[in-house]
Amino acid sequence: MIKKIAIIGAGGVGSALAFNLLERFPLESLVLVDIKEDRAKAVAYDLEDTRGILNFSTVIEGTSDYSLIKNSDIVVFSAGIPRRQGMTRLDLLKVNSGIAQSAASEIKKYCPKSIVIAVTNPLDVITYLILKKTRFSRQKVIGMGSSLDSSRLLNILFKDTGVSAASWQSFAFGPHSKDMLIEFGSGSYPLNTAKLKAAEKKVKSRGAKIVNLLKDKSAVFGPALACSKLIEAIAFDKGHIIPVSVLLKGEYGINDVCVGAPCLIRRQGAVEIVKGLLTPAQKNKLKKVSFSLKETLKSL
Ligand code: NAI
Ligand code: 2OP
Repeated sequence: MIKKIAIIGAGGVGSALAFNLLERFPLESLVLVDIKEDRAKAVAYDLEDTRGILNFSTVIEGTSDYSLIKNSDIVVFSAGIPRRQGMTRLDLLKVNSGIAQSAASEIKKYCPKSIVIAVTNPLDVITYLILKKTRFSRQKVIGMGSSLDSSRLLNILFKDTGVSAASWQSFAFGPHSKDMLIEFGSGSYPLNTAKLKAAEKKVKSRGAKIVNLLKDKSAVFGPALACSKLIEAIAFDKGHIIPVSVLLKGEYGINDVCVGAPCLIRRQGAVEIVKGLLTPAQKNKLKKVSFSLKETLKSL
């Protein structure tokens, strides 16, 4: 059973996730780490104040001291700067890669057996950096990006057709960027090509649409719930197939890059990359878009 979860980065995504975890999981301990210690403490106190309503017994701590994450079963990394209007996810690379690498050393030191869920952008590159720095097995370092994009896709399909989100076999995969790829699923409700293309365009621009409205921030609720769903799959060994950013080692002809692919998520993490879900054409596209991720990694 999952007893302790640490969230590094008690900002928009981290605090929305913490709130959702308290509602859903009977954790023994929830730790929020932030470079702004006052922020971490304030969020922890605010969350604690829901105890009288939600009736949980979780011990909640807000801190800038990494030693408090000791022996966490799952560590979520959501620290760093978010996108602002006009920025791409890649613009965040310089600042966020440094933060990720130092956090990864602390995770390795204090939580050597944990599963790490990366959230910070640029997601696929950050996942790769954490994996390399911790030297954890690839199943234990996964990036949350395609699962959010998939949820966004299902929302758009529901709004376009009235068919419930659960009825679609559609999902997003590939990088968590404008180069993401979409599988609509052969057994799904029929839509003509123009409608499919329109849905695809909307999913690709959904994150930017939110940033453009908020101006100095990006989405929080969708990302937090996508993380929570992953944590549920891990904690309860659900055997869900969820697209996550994972290190490819020759799968689809791609090597040494993290990118979103459908994975079987179990208590031990992303235990299998489910290759049969992609067509040969999609595998080729994935290979192509992974190439630019590799170029980014080379530039670091
Ligand atoms: P935020 O700005 O609200 O929170 C980030 C937190 O990280 C802040 O509280 C900040 O003080 C903290 N922080 C900065 N440097 C730190 C350090 N060295 N150590 C510890 N904490 C540090 O940002 P938000 O909205 O929570 O987003 C966090 C990250 O997640 C961003 O990079 C954003 O682009 C990314 N993101 C990724 C998504 C995905 O689907 N993968 C979706 C939404 C956001
Ligand atoms: C999003 O897709 C910014 O990656 C974040 O909303």
